[in-house]
Amino acid sequence: MAIRNIREIGDTVLNKPCKEVKEITPRTRELINDMIETMYAANGVGLAAPQVGVLKRIVVIDCTGEDLMVMINPRIIETSGEQTGGEGCLSVPGKSGIVTRPNYVKAVAYDENMQLYEVEGTELLARAICHELDHLDGHLYVEKVEGDLMDVRDEDDDDDWDEE
Ligand code: NI
Repeated sequence: MAIRNIREIGDTVLNKPCKEVKEITPRTRELINDMIETMYAANGVGLAAPQVGVLKRIVVIDCTGEDLMVMINPRIIETSGEQTGGEGCLSVPGKSGIVTRPNYVKAVAYDENMQLYEVEGTELLARAICHELDHLDGHLYVEKVEGDLMDVRDEDDDDDWDEE
């Protein structure tokens, strides 16, 4: 496993739609493992493949430090409610902004063995799923920010929202 370089806003790879994954090759497995290591090393709660420069529909999410989820070709099939709160992104370092997202999300995805599964989330997990899936379509949260982007203070690291 290796930590990969996280692409930052302004890098055009972050604005491109990603391709479906058709099969898990050794290379795909390596990518997934590297994404997991890169996410944890950066103290993120999620990471999408384009953030490490790969245009594949793969995201990893772990909102608690104990609930790692690999989502391949993920699709949101149901949403409800609304939440408005702070959001950040590892590709937009040092910034955060207010974004409104659904408060509940149901999604389907394949795991790293290409087994289809369903996941439901509320609050932070719902927000993370929406945020990461946006990356796969070339969208960053900054497009949805209400008001201005704010500078994140370093000592804010223990807030419930970390960067994706
Ligand atoms: Ni992000």
